[in-house]
Amino acid sequence: MNEKMVKAMNKQLNFELESAHVYLAMQNYFAAMSLTGFEHWFNVQYKEEVEHAEKFMEYLNDRGERVEVTGFPSPKNEFSSVLEVLETSLNHEKEVTRRIHALMDLAIELKDYPSMSLLQWYVDEQVEEEANFSMLIDKVKMMDGKGLYMLDRELGKREE
Ligand code: FEO
Repeated sequence: MNEKMVKAMNKQLNFELESAHVYLAMQNYFAAMSLTGFEHWFNVQYKEEVEHAEKFMEYLNDRGERVEVTGFPSPKNEFSSVLEVLETSLNHEKEVTRRIHALMDLAIELKDYPSMSLLQWYVDEQVEEEANFSMLIDKVKMMDGKGLYMLDRELGKREE
């Protein structure tokens, strides 16, 4: 593989791990608020981010390249409201999308067809990631205290 792509994919897989920690911190914010449905939903989100990182790792290993695991900044642990958590999440996913698109641009420039195929999965996944948070933001904006209780129960059913 081209060195530029190996470096960029390593950077992205570490950003996926950073994303996992962003959601792990949010999961525990909800745990502290006793919003167990949100807590569960963000735990599933956390695990999904780890899977996103693993998918890049497997790909780099399959292609005989070296994976480099790095550190990253501490995530935000305190929030003022449920809505703030969700808006922070949506903004985070928009940043992920921007980075995935930049990776796809690089794959196209390098005519790296296997990487384009892998990255297409992430392009599609990001549509879903942004849609999930947009939907939750819309729901939370519409509701009162009772509605939040009902939504919490609904989110508790998210499947892994
Ligand atoms: Fe791995 Fe939520 O993007």
